[in-house]
Amino acid sequence: MSSSSSRTIMSLLLIVSLALLCSTTTIAKQQYHEFVVKEAAVTRLCKSQNIMTVNGQFPGPSLEVNEGDCLVVKVTNKGPYNVTVHWHGVRQMRTGWSDGPEFVTQCPIRPGQSYTYRFTVQGQEGTLWWHAHSSWLRATVHGALIIRPRRGVAAYPFVNNHGKPPVREIPILLGEWWNMNPIDVVRAATRTGAAPNISDAITVNGQPGDLYKCSSKDTTTFRVKSGETNLLRFINAALNTELFVSLVGHTMTVVGADASYTKPYSTSVLMIAPGQTTDVLVTFDQPPGRYYLAARAYASAQGVPFDNTTTTAIFDYGASSSSSSSNNSPAMPTLPACGGPNNTRFTASINNVSFVLPSTVSILQSHYHGASTGVFTADFPANPPVTFDYTAQNVSRGLWQPEPGTKVYKLKYGAAVQLVLQGTNIFAAENHPIHIHGYDFYILAEGFGNFDAATDTAKFNLDDPPMRNTVAVPVNGWAVIRFVADNPGVWLMHCHLDVHITWGLAMAFLVEDGVGVLQSLEAPPPDLPLC
Ligand code: C2O
Repeated sequence: MSSSSSRTIMSLLLIVSLALLCSTTTIAKQQYHEFVVKEAAVTRLCKSQNIMTVNGQFPGPSLEVNEGDCLVVKVTNKGPYNVTVHWHGVRQMRTGWSDGPEFVTQCPIRPGQSYTYRFTVQGQEGTLWWHAHSSWLRATVHGALIIRPRRGVAAYPFVNNHGKPPVREIPILLGEWWNMNPIDVVRAATRTGAAPNISDAITVNGQPGDLYKCSSKDTTTFRVKSGETNLLRFINAALNTELFVSLVGHTMTVVGADASYTKPYSTSVLMIAPGQTTDVLVTFDQPPGRYYLAARAYASAQGVPFDNTTTTAIFDYGASSSSSSSNNSPAMPTLPACGGPNNTRFTASINNVSFVLPSTVSILQSHYHGASTGVFTADFPANPPVTFDYTAQNVSRGLWQPEPGTKVYKLKYGAAVQLVLQGTNIFAAENHPIHIHGYDFYILAEGFGNFDAATDTAKFNLDDPPMRNTVAVPVNGWAVIRFVADNPGVWLMHCHLDVHITWGLAMAFLVEDGVGVLQSLEAPPPDLPLC
């Protein structure tokens, strides 16, 4: 072997090991974090209970990176449940092993075990988040993942009212609280086949706020400065509830969503679906005082019970905080009004397949080792098995029979993919936030009723479509999305209402390797958990 060919081999090896260790350049850096998943006692709504947390914090720690940075997060499970962590929205180019959905890309981390997630955050800026991806643990195991432009190289594409970057950045996590262990809530529902209990409160950064009992002294308060423009980073971390959000007296300028910048637009109310994030600029240009931020459910399914409570937090830029007395309690914003089966079990499906997770090995492992037999099949149908009037008043009961299965849809590396996500009126029509792992996608168009290619294709926005990782498919309507399959691996697509994923509203894409190492899935890390 000549010395030049051995050099080639050496440098190839070097490339491979760099990929595993995180490639660090002079500008990008590597961050190491330890996440210990454990119980902590908290008191909400007059009641103390133990909840699952990361490092005892609720919400969990915020991670702040610059685009191009590499994250190394060692997760140690000191709790009683299996757990995994998903980095919601991170593309995980070639690093599917670090994506996190239980039994899709990895076996769960058992109590007492640990696993280290390693990935680079590239080509995405804005707000993402992380959450447990096992059962309903994400109710309390979640936190923000903030991605700023690359240091010294890039800047925000927006400025404040003085032509400067926003002065302060405030992460705002909206969540859902149960007066019992969320794992018990979903277990009870799975046992009986009924719908799970609705939550007892909506929360802002873990606190229900002034309108709930025993909550007002802990209401989340954001102290801001009169005249300043701040960047608010909203994350809907609620399990099952789409939310309207408003800040009384203030206009919000939306500048980003799901870690992609948007064409700026102004609004007084946001609708954020579970899984989605929205970045807005707000200028505190009202008379000094205290202003309520409020959020409550957008309940799109008729006749389905929902948590109709309202959470509040306070933006405070009063002249002096001691002067705030009971006769100047903050004003409330106006939020849109909310809309608002018989010996069977609830179930949900895509193309009539109700997704079932494997239990002995993850889909990604069995794909990587070329041993799909018994774990999954690659016959997820490209179309619904029967065409019917999906959004009709009364969908015949004969069409309510989904088949359980662990089916994936295979995509060649580099394939251009268009999906028509069509909602149905089976049992109850509802807005479904559909999320795809490992990808951002363009939303070309949305509409009500049944998608009709003959007339609706003309509505596609091919100029400046928004890019997201979660699309809220309208009630009894449709959305058309596109992406290029440039990330090999197994990627879950599911409704981000956890109650629906529990019922099977999910499927997975299997994106094959392309040519050469840079178009191929990395090798699994040595500490990948065993089932
Ligand atoms: Cu927020 Cu499957 O994820």
